[in-house]
Amino acid sequence: MSTIHIAAGRPYDVLIEAGLLKQCGQLIREVHAPCSVAVVTDDGVPTHLADTAEASLKQAGFAVQRIVFRQGEAHKNLETLSDLLEFFASIPLTRGDLVVALGGGIVGDTAGFAASSYLRGIPFVQVPTTLLAAVDSSVGGKTAVNLQAGKNLTGAFWQPSLVICDTDILAVLNDDLMADGAAECVKYGVLGDAELFAMLEQGGLRSSMKEIVTRCVEMKGRIVAEDEHDTGSRQLLNLGHTLGHAIERAGNFALTHGHGVAIGMVLITRAAIARGLCEASALPRLTNALKACGLPVECPYKREQLLEAALRDKKRQGGSITLVVPKAIGSTVLMPVPVEELSAWIDDGLNA
Ligand SMILES: NC(=O)c1ccc[n+]([C@@H]2O[C@H](COP(=O)([O-])OP(=O)(O)OC[C@H]3O[C@@H](n4cnc5c(N)ncnc54)[C@H](O)[C@@H]3O)[C@@H](O)[C@H]2O)c1
Ligand SMILES: [Zn+2]
Repeated sequence: MSTIHIAAGRPYDVLIEAGLLKQCGQLIREVHAPCSVAVVTDDGVPTHLADTAEASLKQAGFAVQRIVFRQGEAHKNLETLSDLLEFFASIPLTRGDLVVALGGGIVGDTAGFAASSYLRGIPFVQVPTTLLAAVDSSVGGKTAVNLQAGKNLTGAFWQPSLVICDTDILAVLNDDLMADGAAECVKYGVLGDAELFAMLEQGGLRSSMKEIVTRCVEMKGRIVAEDEHDTGSRQLLNLGHTLGHAIERAGNFALTHGHGVAIGMVLITRAAIARGLCEASALPRLTNALKACGLPVECPYKREQLLEAALRDKKRQGGSITLVVPKAIGSTVLMPVPVEELSAWIDDGLNA
């Protein structure tokens, strides 16, 4: 089993291994005494996963109740948050009780936010069931739901007490879910792990799942430990995301997040090369790695659509926007640029 210690303000471990779900009760017992547990999941997460988790929790002495909300970004909202809080209160969960988030990033973000505010904060455990959740959203303590005005506009920093990642669950994900998470894996490779990048470039995603997830979580953990509240180096995790979000928005979310981020990484890398900031070999390597993961590399939208969408980005601070710029595979820098220069970056990114 890989055990990665996350040195956040409230530290915790991420456990990664095949077959962990059926032992989740025992594993949780090691960090939390038997109590009432609300298992939160959505109706797209295979039911047998919640059944297995519940059986294991019960065997370890926990009293378990399950709540299943409707899948999809449209339900990652205040109404679902309210349903979860009312459910916790109906059990009732007390300060000494626990929330287990079993699902993808939507379940983790929503259940995590509910746990952060219920009784002013009760512990929660993340059990990621998508690759994106395993390598990204389950680690680092960002929780949120969407408002009508935009994604993740209300939330909290609330670290889990434990993250249990069963790679058997990830091994059988369909190609689309796999590709979405793979974009984040490629991102970590470009950010600072050339060996991870090489594994992905060689098409090793399914065959080296445990090692790839471990390397991604190690990198995310290092960055989170350095800048838990996202005021500095944590922004590196936005590689490909400023333009990726713009791509998602430009198409009214026709492209999923990972697909947008993949194209966003291609655009920022191409623009960085055009400006003499990045090694030219990074672009063909990046596009090969993305294609090996089943991800797109061409942008279907025009400059004006991207620019308009990018300017609505909440990460924009006043007159400047911080771009994450690759220098080479395995090395990136943060670069604040005036908003007026963004259109030139987008032009350079689109000019194949
Ligand atoms: N908190 C963070 O740091 C952070 C980081 C990145 C992304 N996010 C958030 O994560 C969300 C995206 O996460 P996601 O990509 O996991 O999406 P998701 O949670 O919507 O999961 C994708 C779909 O797969 C289904 N699913 C989940 N597990 C499955 C399994 N094992 N087999 C088959 N289907 C399964 C879900 O029901 C859903 O329909 C976004 O809302 C994003 O804002 C948060
Ligand atoms: Zn992302």
